[in-house]
Amino acid sequence: MFDTMTVTKAGGALCGSLLVFLLIKWAADGLYHTGPVAHGGEEVAQAYVIDTGDTGGATEAAQEGPDFATLLASADPAAGEKVFNKCKACHKLDGTNATGPHLDGVVNRPIGSVEGFGYSDAMKNHGGTWDPETLSHFLENPKGYIPGTKMSFAGLKKPEDRADVIAYLQQFGG
Ligand code: HEC
Repeated sequence: MFDTMTVTKAGGALCGSLLVFLLIKWAADGLYHTGPVAHGGEEVAQAYVIDTGDTGGATEAAQEGPDFATLLASADPAAGEKVFNKCKACHKLDGTNATGPHLDGVVNRPIGSVEGFGYSDAMKNHGGTWDPETLSHFLENPKGYIPGTKMSFAGLKKPEDRADVIAYLQQFGG
């Protein structure tokens, strides 16, 4: 009887340690597994930065500054009207506000200045004026240019699209 107890205890202890061992192994596997995944993720993130952040962004910004006026001068408002289809869900051009403030007259309007529109604090307190170049920077990457803005729009990556849509907006009481 005593022997049976001992065997049972030993068996129980063995099972217990096996279980602990399995758990540790499982945890270790988990940890080991996270390594390569995180590493892979890092690599992907890095590739992304090289593609769009560093090279793309820097080159674009460097080229864009002096060129934007030229780009705007040769912009096509009709093409801009098509680009504006991406904005229509939230912006109107008839003086009424929707999800976003009305954009008629937005070119050279003070930032965040439409009466009665509930801007985010970030937009309201930003200051400055929507001159074409500022608009272009904002539209390229809204949340990058004004962190905290509640405009949920990914941005217009092509400088031509930005110039075209700004040329289109200029036709509305700007
Ligand atoms: C999903 C809705 C949405 C879309 C799509 C969108 N916007 Fe907006 N936009 C907003 C909101 C909301 C605000 C107010 C942001 C804030 O207060 O932070 C805003 C603000 C702006 C402002 C600042 C206006 C001011 O009075 O200061 C401009 C300019 C603007 N949007 C242009 C555009 C253009 C151009 C497009 C299309 C290329 C576009 N938006 C697409 C929602 C949107």
